[in-house]
Amino acid sequence: MWKFAIEDALVKIKQNIQKHPGKLPHIIEGQRYDWGENNDWIEGFYTGMMWLAYEFGQDPFYKEAAESYLANFKHRLDHHIELDHHDIGFLYSLSAVAQWRVTGNTAARELALQAADALLARWRPKIGVIQAWGKEDDPENGGRIIIDCLLNLPLLFWAHEQTGDAKYYDVAMKHALKSQKFLVRGDGSSYHTFYFDTDNGNALRGGTHQGYRDGSTWTRGQAWGIYGFALAYRYTKHADFLSTSKRMARYFIDRLPEDAVVYWDFDVPVEDGTPRDSSASAITACGLLELLELIGNSDPDRALFEDALNRSMKSLVERYATTDLPDAEGLLKHGSYHVRGDRAPDDYMIWGDYYYLEALVRLERGIKGYWYET
Ligand code: GLY
Repeated sequence: MWKFAIEDALVKIKQNIQKHPGKLPHIIEGQRYDWGENNDWIEGFYTGMMWLAYEFGQDPFYKEAAESYLANFKHRLDHHIELDHHDIGFLYSLSAVAQWRVTGNTAARELALQAADALLARWRPKIGVIQAWGKEDDPENGGRIIIDCLLNLPLLFWAHEQTGDAKYYDVAMKHALKSQKFLVRGDGSSYHTFYFDTDNGNALRGGTHQGYRDGSTWTRGQAWGIYGFALAYRYTKHADFLSTSKRMARYFIDRLPEDAVVYWDFDVPVEDGTPRDSSASAITACGLLELLELIGNSDPDRALFEDALNRSMKSLVERYATTDLPDAEGLLKHGSYHVRGDRAPDDYMIWGDYYYLEALVRLERGIKGYWYET
């Protein structure tokens, strides 16, 4: 079952590369992508899919396509194009780190280290966090973190492993600890974002950007937390990160709807037409795969996690994948970007496609994403 879904995905990735040479997908409404330049937070997901496709089938077409984008990513970093945000981790893990990891290309390694330094420059020592969005003096965002950042931290952990320089590890560790303390609530739910006072570092309040309301649990934020804390545990062996990821996973699984693919927020009233976020379920599938590697065979949550993983992935493949649409540009239907902001509430999300493929190739052949060492 996974193999059929992977083969369909590989065909679609190839079609996109052939139809849109040198371009990158951006999110737009209307069951398609808008093909443009490298200036958003999402471009790495596209190259990341090419690397997974190459690793799965060894077809050099995908490798050459992914490699052809390295200069483009370098140009962006050299000229700091639309990089006043923490998503440097997403962008360069799935392009430069991936290329280094798969091919050993040293220019890719250098670029990834340069990206890690750019991410490190967003560290705000007075608060003890990596600033999510905007410039340092941004009045709204100066003291703000968001849960998504946990998936940016592997770039810093990787840079530490590569260089032995403790500064990367220290910042990533401190940011993860702060995120755990302020973004994750006692019942295992999460804030999307948290604000600190930029003058004295005091904690101010939790809030949301893409969730239903401040204090609700945005399902994709919860998914970033499940996978992100599991990865933080893999790198640090700090036991609280593992238990946090597990408790967030239990919260997510306890609230799965009948078809095991979540709505866009756990607190939104569900009625006919309430948007799903298939991408949140795809990210969580990868988080559960990670947890299943990290917990012991006798762990009491093992059966729960395995069952949720299988139900969600089966549902994604059977009900959400575009396997019945041979010309589709996306792999997964019914992702939502920013429902409350009325932005692509029911469309293709390139990160949903990436994590769906990552989960499939892990399930089928144990091929991991590019969040890991070496
Ligand atoms: N990291 C932005 C999002 O998940 O929409």
